[in-house]
Amino acid sequence: MMATAVGNQVSPTSGRYHFPPGFQRNLLWFAWRRFRPANPITLFQHLAQAYGDIAHYKIGWNHILFLNHPDYIREILVVQNDNFVKERTVRRSKMLLGEGMITAEGAQHRLQRQVAQPAFHRQRIPEYAAAMVREAARVRQTWRAGQQRDVAIDMMHLTLNIVADTLFATDLRAEVDELADAINRIMDLYNFLVMLPAAEWLVHVRPPGLAGFVRARKRIDAVVYRMITAHRRQKSDRGSLLDLMLAASPDQSPESEQSLRDQVITIFLAGYETVANALIWTWYLLSQNEDCERRLHDEIDRELQGRLPVFDDVPRLRYAEMVFAESLRLYPPAWAMGRYARADFRLGEFLLPARTTVLMSQFVLHRDPRFFPDPLRFDPERFAPEAKARRPKFTYFPFGAGVRQCIGESFAWMEGVLLLATLAQKWKLKLVPGHPVEPQPLITLRPRFGMRMLAERRGSQPLG
Ligand code: HEM
Repeated sequence: MMATAVGNQVSPTSGRYHFPPGFQRNLLWFAWRRFRPANPITLFQHLAQAYGDIAHYKIGWNHILFLNHPDYIREILVVQNDNFVKERTVRRSKMLLGEGMITAEGAQHRLQRQVAQPAFHRQRIPEYAAAMVREAARVRQTWRAGQQRDVAIDMMHLTLNIVADTLFATDLRAEVDELADAINRIMDLYNFLVMLPAAEWLVHVRPPGLAGFVRARKRIDAVVYRMITAHRRQKSDRGSLLDLMLAASPDQSPESEQSLRDQVITIFLAGYETVANALIWTWYLLSQNEDCERRLHDEIDRELQGRLPVFDDVPRLRYAEMVFAESLRLYPPAWAMGRYARADFRLGEFLLPARTTVLMSQFVLHRDPRFFPDPLRFDPERFAPEAKARRPKFTYFPFGAGVRQCIGESFAWMEGVLLLATLAQKWKLKLVPGHPVEPQPLITLRPRFGMRMLAERRGSQPLG
């Protein structure tokens, strides 16, 4: 049954349309009054609190809906999916990603997904496990007892190297600093870009604030093009994702090269930023919940008996998976998603016009006490099989849903479990006292001030 809005709000009607309750004033008015990038999560939380499962507001002429109920989310992402595109909701992301799998639509999207699919096939995933553990084992060797580390940087570098190695058969270790730094630069500018009218056009005339964006994008492109050229020269055919993309690229015309660049950069960014952030938040949550941390350590010691994990261990590391799942609930790296309606549509009792933007937020719904009682408590038991089975579908959607569901989901679960197990086997991470922790919703949910933690050696086993 479809949910209805709470409260005793009167739903406005306008012409033949019937809108859910929401802000009466145009949001542009607020923006002009307090011209600074507002935190969109605060806005979404306010909408959910004030208007319930579905809220309506306008920015300029544009109608926006904010959904906060699993039935509505299923309706948009699955049932009425044909009527919705990403289009305007990913306009800003296109400035970095171009027309890659995340931002493309229709035939172009289908083709890209088809080309990439074999690299994410179940049979390929075990091959990647060894590379993930190898890289994590190398990193844990470099840590020193009592050392203060920015775990945010560590996790970004680790997952960037893993994507390069597994999907693009490339050793990026020499360039990882430069690449991560350029991407950070872009993320820092992202909020500014989101607020800037006509930013897509302005990058071409390069006002001072955007010069940094253009420079950083050039640095990223240079690394990507170097990778493509090296692969072409080696005539490599190991079946890596990059080989598949090269084989499907019709020629070396500027358009094909641009498209290849867009496809590569999209998987790079989607494949490392998300997992890195999930792990950063997991280390933080473990440091705040010693009982859960102890249970995780017990499981690792019991199941692995001191050896490094392999692919076959993943199903046995069940608590590690529950910890990772609970971390994705509280700090979902993809914290919100949007769709854009092609034609008029119905949602429950409401009739909405074409060109309405529909927003939903994993961050907000995952913290809804109706579905996750005592929502701020970190409790991996919520992901025990029986507890999971009791919850309605679409209350938890860190990887999206429907035809555009994350292609890297299995990759990400395995990577999360293996990296947690490999690193936590030897190390415990404690938050540096007084270090401020605040989620910052950019393209992904990052810790605004990084994550400074103290590395503490576990047990007396030698590092190996
Ligand atoms: C914890 C890790 C991850 C999270 C939370 C995550 C989340 C998501 C979400 C929510 C979407 C759907 C967006 C939408 O429908 O608007 C998505 C799509 C996508 N993800 Fe992930 N992702 C993760 C890891 C990965 C990895 C490891 C890869 C690749 C190696 C990847 C590649 C992609 C791609 C290419 C898409 C676009 C799929 C399409 O539109 O057909 N993701 N991801």
